[in-house]
Amino acid sequence: MDTTHTAAPPPGPRGAALRVAVVVVAAGSGSRLGAEVPKAFVRLADRPLLAHALERAGRCPGLVRVVVVAPASHVADALALTAGVTVPTQVVAGGAERSDSVAAGLAAAGDDVDAVLVHDAARALAPPSLFAAVVAALAEGHPAVVPGLPVVDTVKEVDKHGVVVATPDRSRLRAVQTPQGFDRAVLARAHADAPPGATDDAALVERLGLPVVVVPGDPLAEKVTTPRDLAVAHAVLAGAGPR
Ligand code: C5P
Repeated sequence: MDTTHTAAPPPGPRGAALRVAVVVVAAGSGSRLGAEVPKAFVRLADRPLLAHALERAGRCPGLVRVVVVAPASHVADALALTAGVTVPTQVVAGGAERSDSVAAGLAAAGDDVDAVLVHDAARALAPPSLFAAVVAALAEGHPAVVPGLPVVDTVKEVDKHGVVVATPDRSRLRAVQTPQGFDRAVLARAHADAPPGATDDAALVERLGLPVVVVPGDPLAEKVTTPRDLAVAHAVLAGAGPR
């Protein structure tokens, strides 16, 4: 089922600037990276991934609050990395699954904000311009906004034996990234009704039958998962620097 909409008409602008909370989820173990510390605390050049993510998220338009969701063992370490953020910032402990961590962050984000952006610390180089694009689409009245890039490989759907059952039309596919932005109340409803283990917040909004709009993603927002990704991020940082 095609549940993303690249050209849905906006429901109408909200007028005043949005009050935004950013939830940075950083509570994963990062076992595929093979490091001795949780992934968000692995160093990229001079600082941990989480510090890079916070530097960029901290420049989000309309930002009034940041919530960092850290492993329970690393709450104090995470707090030490929030020093440069200029809005009130809180660190809470995450859960076993990413969706548990997002729910913990959402609970701390407060109900006095209009919108919540959920961002993976592992997408440490996602630029402020990407946060701005997501907030701009939310301000147009969309309840859920995700950045996505066209898929360059042909993608096959396979059965449990590895036999191809479908080849979706590549031109209709998008690889989605974070920050994913939501009307706060919509995200709260989506999480209240979530099945265990959801890896994508937008999918929970799709389950509610609400539209999820895709805005252009950014290669800088690719997720650091493997040692190779970390090496690529190093090279990108050395060559391009933050935007
Ligand atoms: O594991 P994966 O790379 O998909 O995780 C994406 C993001 O979600 C990471 O920033 C990770 O720290 C976070 N996460 C979390 N709590 C978990 C699992 C993942 O905050 N239990």
